[in-house]
Amino acid sequence: MTSPDPVEFFEQQFLRQIRETDFALNPFEKLALPYLAGSVLDLGCGLGNLSLEAARRGCMVTALDASPTAVERLRAAARQEQLRLQPLQADLGNFRIEQDYDTIVAIGLLMFLEKERALTLLSQIVQRVRPSGCAIVNVLVEGTTYLEMFKPGEYYLFGANELEQAFAGWTLLAARRESFPAPEDTRKEFATVVAQKPPG
Ligand SMILES: C[S@@+](CC[C@H](N)C(=O)[O-])C[C@H]1O[C@@H](n2cnc3c(N)ncnc32)[C@H](O)[C@@H]1O
Repeated sequence: MTSPDPVEFFEQQFLRQIRETDFALNPFEKLALPYLAGSVLDLGCGLGNLSLEAARRGCMVTALDASPTAVERLRAAARQEQLRLQPLQADLGNFRIEQDYDTIVAIGLLMFLEKERALTLLSQIVQRVRPSGCAIVNVLVEGTTYLEMFKPGEYYLFGANELEQAFAGWTLLAARRESFPAPEDTRKEFATVVAQKPPG
């Protein structure tokens, strides 16, 4: 499998984090934690810190990422703790969600896909969460000026309210906009939504 460029960017970050045993949950993963339940699909799981925590809490987790380093680390950790966690290496630029889940997570993934692909995967998330289940989605939005990790022309900065619009009719359990400074006086502008699907 040829790795997409952003994955090369994260490979280097993950190798460093493994060397430094830096497996702390990021702020978006911390926000997600109380909403994880049942069967969980973690799209773009990275090192899998959230997937591991979900499995430790009794969830049955499928965790997907294109980074071989991340998937291998997650596989070893899941095996060691004998968790119900299946890590798989996959290019999510060419992926269909084939079954329903109680919880679908996509933290920091969708903006790395071309617009059409990002919106298609987002609409699959909307379809594939079970009634009363949760979607937890975090993306970079317009106004982000830190672009170093993107392949030019092959990324999508979401509109400020695009996630809320995608989950229209769902109960918004959390909706956040956050701005973080980035290298060379740039910024990362994030939107995060935790949304619960209406009962069937
Ligand atoms: C910002 S990191 C987020 C990781 C994790 N969800 C977290 O919150 O720490 C983005 C992740 O998306 C993955 N990724 C980017 N493009 C991808 C693609 N086309 N297919 C699969 N994974 C991809 C990267 O390898 C990386 O692990």
